[in-house]
Amino acid sequence: MANEIYEKVNRCVEAIRKVTDFQPKVAITLGSGLGNYAEQIDIKCEIPYSDLPGFPVSTVPGHAGKFIFGYVGDVPVVCMKGRVHYYEGYPISDVVLPARVMKSLGAEILFLTNAAGGINSTFDAGDLMLINDHISLFVPNPLIGPNIDEFGTRFPDMSAVYDKELRKIIKDTALDNKILLKEGIYAQCTGPSFESPAEVRMLGILGADAVGMSTVVEAIAAHHMGMRVCGISCVSNMAAGITNEPLSHEDVQKAADKTGPMFEKLVTACVKKF
Ligand code: HPA
Repeated sequence: MANEIYEKVNRCVEAIRKVTDFQPKVAITLGSGLGNYAEQIDIKCEIPYSDLPGFPVSTVPGHAGKFIFGYVGDVPVVCMKGRVHYYEGYPISDVVLPARVMKSLGAEILFLTNAAGGINSTFDAGDLMLINDHISLFVPNPLIGPNIDEFGTRFPDMSAVYDKELRKIIKDTALDNKILLKEGIYAQCTGPSFESPAEVRMLGILGADAVGMSTVVEAIAAHHMGMRVCGISCVSNMAAGITNEPLSHEDVQKAADKTGPMFEKLVTACVKKF
C-alpha cells in the first residue's frame, strides 16, 4: 500500500530535481545563531520551501525557509535555512520531512544545530555543546505509524545516534581552532513555552545537559534512514530556574547571534573534514 509520508518525500525530491541535479554529501540544519551561515557557502542554487509541494514552512520570525545548495570548501552541502518546529502545529512527520528529503537527495551526513537552554551548572550562556546523546521522551517519536521500509527498519537501534567519528572530528577541530566546546545530552521538549524551573530540575535529574525544542526528532528520522548524524547546540541562555533571569525569545535570539561567528567557524572547519 502506498505510504502518504513516503510519497510526500518523493514529491519534494522530484520538485527539487526539476531545478537542480546537485548531489550534496552533507546536510546542515541551521539553528539560531547560524542565520548568516550562507555567507560561508559557495552557493550554486537556492530553492524556497514554498516552491515544494506540501513542504512545511516556518511561522517563526527569523526562520525564513529555503534550501541552499553549494560548497563549503570542496564539500557539496545542502543547507536548511529555517526549519519548522513541532510547536508550530505541524505533524511530527512534517517536522522530519526535510531531513528525509535531504537524505533522499544523497546526503550521507546530517549536521544539526540549534539554540538550547543550559541545564548543566558547568555551562555558561554562549557556550557551544557537542550533542553526544539525547532524551526524546517528551515529543512524539517521528517513526510512529506504519514503518516505511524504504527508509529503514521497524525498531531502529538508538545506542549510537551521534556518530562517534564525526564527534571526534568536531572535538579535534574545536581544539585546533581554540574554540571551547562542552559536551552533553540534549533533551527535546515541545515548547513553545519555555520549561518551568521544576521541569528543568527534572530534566537535570534525568541526565539532560541542555534543553531545546528541535533536533532530536530529526536525528531519529535521519538515523532510521542510515544517515551519520552529529549536532551542536549553542547554549543561548541558562534554562529557567538555573539563574534568576526570565527568558524571552528575543534574548535567546540575540545571545545565539552573538555566538554566531564562532559557531560558523567551527561548523565550516568541521564540514571541510567530513
Ligand atoms: N528552553 C527550550 N528551548 C530553548 C531554550 C530554553 O531555555 N533556549 C533556547 N531554546
